[in-house]
Amino acid sequence: MVNQQAIEAAKASFGKVMAEQLVRIENIKKPQEWTDYSKLKPIKIGILGGDGIGPAISAEAQRCLELLLMDQVKSGKVTFKVIEGMTIENRIAKNAAIPMDVLDEIYKCDVTLKGPTETPEAGEGRANIESANVAMRKYLDLFANVRPVRIPAQNIDWTFFRENTEDIYAVGSQGQMVTPDLAVDYKVISRPGSRRIAEAGFEYAKKNGKKRVTIVTKANVVKTTDGLFLNIAKEVAKNYPGIEMDAWYIDIMTAKLLDTARRSDFQVMVLPNLYGDIITDEAGQIQGGVGTAGSANLGKKYAMFEAIHGSAPRMVKEGRAQYADPSSIIRAGAMMLEHIGFQDLGERLHMALDICGQYEKKLVMTGRSNGAAGKDFGDYVVATVRDSKTRDRWNAYVHATK
Ligand code: IPM
Ligand code: MG
Repeated sequence: MVNQQAIEAAKASFGKVMAEQLVRIENIKKPQEWTDYSKLKPIKIGILGGDGIGPAISAEAQRCLELLLMDQVKSGKVTFKVIEGMTIENRIAKNAAIPMDVLDEIYKCDVTLKGPTETPEAGEGRANIESANVAMRKYLDLFANVRPVRIPAQNIDWTFFRENTEDIYAVGSQGQMVTPDLAVDYKVISRPGSRRIAEAGFEYAKKNGKKRVTIVTKANVVKTTDGLFLNIAKEVAKNYPGIEMDAWYIDIMTAKLLDTARRSDFQVMVLPNLYGDIITDEAGQIQGGVGTAGSANLGKKYAMFEAIHGSAPRMVKEGRAQYADPSSIIRAGAMMLEHIGFQDLGERLHMALDICGQYEKKLVMTGRSNGAAGKDFGDYVVATVRDSKTRDRWNAYVHATK
């Protein structure tokens, strides 16, 4: 017999979720300009260490940024502020994805560099708080998660534009146990939400001379939501006549990333949140591990930069935190430099990471005591950045290995 009472309760909850979503979507439609960092003085950079391996790896990225931005700090163009309290202990104590006082500090900054933060899993027995990453993306409306993966020696230069506020993540903590036997989560895709991520991907392609944008969905099966995402992307593509658009399904796309004969043909990928989450870990692994991959979470007003991976509580438990690879968050730092208007400095940091992690490899990170410590790797990157010949070294390596 159908449990009508359970259905009514589920309908009420559905109505509430939909009402919230409609408000959110109206907000997306309001016109808003992108922040012009050239006009800001100072540009306020917040640093959040996070938890688990976060504080250790963030400290290395902070060192690189402080070194590269030394002149800008002196001239008052840039300020740094360390924001405390984004730890799992404090978040559980305050029972908040992001404690209010921490959020206030975040809002005072223009951009933030954020170390990984732990997300408790449902049913673990700890407070079931929402992921701090996911919450921050929502609060600051950081809708574009930009994740580059580059292996110059293999001609791989991919940039993933992962939609960052919708899909299964939009109300990930408000799914429904309709009855004890039936669980339902919501996959939410909106027209303006899809439009802005597709536009971000195409704009990036246009500005960076890319010739191809690939839309990745599962629109053959998930017809309504992924179908909308794909259709909007097709509409947006019409405004970019010089750029070829093609569409792939997520399953075959994950396979194609392993196809050494064809994978370097892909340039810019635009995709809904969950597929983007999964495939960027795969792409990061191809680059040398998720510990090498950084990301930008961009909104029109704010931006947050972080590693693509989590806080690795297992590494901490096993006493290996000091061997965590800081490359991921240093890459995120390089992306921050590019985003706030210091393209040359950002590129120099990217090149230093390529040299240290992909070519020269004087120190190798394994995540264990048989590899280098994160701090020593940080020293290595800093020394490489300081070298006035960073670009020459990078060119020599790229040409020698191609
Ligand atoms: C990421 C992470 C997060 C996500 C987790 C930590 C919630 O995997 O940034 O890719 O799923 O988005
Ligand atoms: Mg992920």
